[in-house]
Amino acid sequence: MAVTSIDINRDNKISDIDDRLYGSFIEHLGRAVYEGIYQPGHPSADEDGFRKDVLELVKELNVPVVRYPGGNYVSNFFWEDSVGPEETRRTRLDLAWRTTEPNEVGISEFARWARKAGTAVMMAVNLGTRGTADALNFLEYCNLDTDSYYASLRRRHGDKPFNIKLWCMGNEMDGPWQVGQKTAYEYGRLARETAKAMKMMDDTIECVACGSAHINMPTFGTWEKEVLEQAYDYIDYISCHQYFENKSGNTDDFFASVDILDRFIDTVAAICDEVKRSKNSDKTVNISFDEWNCWYHTLDQDDERMKKEPWGIAPHLLEDNYTFEDAIVNGLALIKFIKHSDRVKIACLAQLVNVIAPIMTDKDGGAWKQTIFYPFLHASVYGRGSAIRCNVTTGTHDTAGYKDVTDIEAVSVLSKDGTQLTVFAVNRLTGEDAEAQVNLAGFDGFRPLSWLALESDDMLVSNSAEEQKVVPVSKSCYEFNGGTLKATFKAASWNVIIFRKD
Ligand code: AHR
Repeated sequence: MAVTSIDINRDNKISDIDDRLYGSFIEHLGRAVYEGIYQPGHPSADEDGFRKDVLELVKELNVPVVRYPGGNYVSNFFWEDSVGPEETRRTRLDLAWRTTEPNEVGISEFARWARKAGTAVMMAVNLGTRGTADALNFLEYCNLDTDSYYASLRRRHGDKPFNIKLWCMGNEMDGPWQVGQKTAYEYGRLARETAKAMKMMDDTIECVACGSAHINMPTFGTWEKEVLEQAYDYIDYISCHQYFENKSGNTDDFFASVDILDRFIDTVAAICDEVKRSKNSDKTVNISFDEWNCWYHTLDQDDERMKKEPWGIAPHLLEDNYTFEDAIVNGLALIKFIKHSDRVKIACLAQLVNVIAPIMTDKDGGAWKQTIFYPFLHASVYGRGSAIRCNVTTGTHDTAGYKDVTDIEAVSVLSKDGTQLTVFAVNRLTGEDAEAQVNLAGFDGFRPLSWLALESDDMLVSNSAEEQKVVPVSKSCYEFNGGTLKATFKAASWNVIIFRKD
């Protein structure tokens, strides 16, 4: 059995964690909105047509912010078609996902849904086919209460200001798949001037500029540098996006692949700081990791469907049915985000409902939890407060594609009121349990309260509407003495150990 010690010293604080680290994302894509959050006529629909069964699960996840309305969708989004009375709602073709958008749910409806879900909206403006003037009109409509055209229009539509504080300057503008793709210079100038003008209108907002669509983009690094050189003074965050996949069916490689987040985050943070120095700025630009998840199960069939059956309304797209190993990968990613919470202030699990999502719905049935629901739930509920580094003395292993992969990954979080310490740990050895010794220093009076784990011998088992095969188990087989807890982490397991002060 592998042996690991996890030393947690109260003095090793990494950072206060921004609650928005546990954000998510809803795009007008597939059945995320229609048949997802919204389905008038469904037995669980409320007076606004929102599915209450979905709202309950979103509330359980305690999501602090939801990015909307895209994604690739936003790059040809005409927001004014999605507001006001039914007769002004234009039906549009969405080029990103080759679907028909009825605009039945728009800005006002989504803001109302967000209020019911207890979450804030992170809004995106279209910098693909539109630009600064349109972003200003949109911001005026959303946030201002002036006697000007768009603020008055919103009032006529019966809404108070939505007060949206976080704005994405477009989406993945480096991607050749993006409608209105730009060079780094073109985009950097546009993001700068748009964020500048938007802040002239409402100086309470924060702006996120697009970083690379993923770390393997050919312009990764040079894109960030150029965009930051242009836009640094007016933006607050630069985005990162990353999806994980196990197309080759190698679980060890899959688990190891998450380490790329360390390099990704460190590199982007270093570029931010280099530009900060070159500009002699006293402002720090941080990271909004506003798309992350596993995404690979449906890619090929979705490409086929979009080719063969284009322009449907709310087609079944990106409906990955997640496995046990996907949940472990997401647990590893959450550990990385907490470890890097000094620079990653916002992160959005992409996405939330039906589309590469922890929550799924049946059109004629209920809502249910995918395997990936659970690590996110645990991190969102127990991962708020300050991140404390774990010094992990662990073995390493090689996989087909990676060398010196740590067996155990762990981080801990001290709750905001200082009474609870939670250790998140993954044993990523697939064939071997690990004996773990957790040593607390500076946590007098803390005793173990509970230990939740996701464990399975079958890496490919998944959940469905009929059966929840992957659910957390509560474990009690540990010893605790003199500030040291001894426990065995099962091979390929996600572990959440909660200590509470007496
Ligand atoms: O989340 C699905 C898609 O992935 C988003 O629309 C896009 O931003 C990314 O490429």
